[in-house]
Amino acid sequence: MTEISIWDKSEAIVQRRKKNVLLREVEGSSGRLIMNTLEAIKTRRSTRKFQQKLVEREKLEQIVEAGRFGPTGGNAQSNHFFVISDAAAIAKLKELVQTAFANMELRDDLYKSLKNSIMLSRKGNYSFCYTAPVLIVVANKKEYGNNMADVACAVENMMLAANELDLGSCYINQLKWLNEDPTLLEYLRGLGLKDDERVYASVAIGYADTESGLPNRTEAPRTGNEVVWV
Ligand SMILES: Cc1cc2nc3c(=O)[nH]c(=O)nc-3n(C[C@H](O)[C@H](O)[C@H](O)COP(=O)(O)O)c2cc1C
Repeated sequence: MTEISIWDKSEAIVQRRKKNVLLREVEGSSGRLIMNTLEAIKTRRSTRKFQQKLVEREKLEQIVEAGRFGPTGGNAQSNHFFVISDAAAIAKLKELVQTAFANMELRDDLYKSLKNSIMLSRKGNYSFCYTAPVLIVVANKKEYGNNMADVACAVENMMLAANELDLGSCYINQLKWLNEDPTLLEYLRGLGLKDDERVYASVAIGYADTESGLPNRTEAPRTGNEVVWV
């Protein structure tokens, strides 16, 4: 790790470069590296292999708080977060998702990921949130026009917070596709989903199953997302 410069003497923050990732470390703290926002954005990558290690409650509280502080249309603040770390509840959701997909008609014109979900589910081999020990499900009001936008803002905030806290994360869309499935709705209502709410996204969280235990933070080149400057 190469020390680059003293960033702010009053807070004794030092910038360091580690594996192409620029990080700031608060000296005298537990030694944990603290990212700035742009670093957290550029180094956030999807994690799809997780260790079966429990995620500390304190970290989960920081992550869900980051989600709760996301912007919402008209300051609606109608996102509803379900932080699920109970293994039996995650297993039940996986079972219900697999059953729902397995019963779907497989058509050529379906979205590629949806086709894949149906095919794997029919083989009894589908784990929509991988091996993540935590799934944060985010619901919002069914009749609210910004429901998915508000949920997506919260999910991105949570993924960035997870990155800063050395946790892997992945945006998970399947519960949104299945958000009118009666069996899933009944189960989620048992967890506290209100009658007028539906799920619009979820995020898988956990320690990445990598050699270092840290999430992959390799910046991925941009191949699209065009920009026009006027
Ligand atoms: C709206 C949305 C839905 C996504 N749904 C899924 C999903 O259901 N399962 C999954 O593994 N990844 C999902 N992803 C993650 C993308 O596949 C991923 O962000 C993309 O391939 C770029 O990779 P990166 O996150 O490592 O930069 C989703 C991402 C977004 C923004």
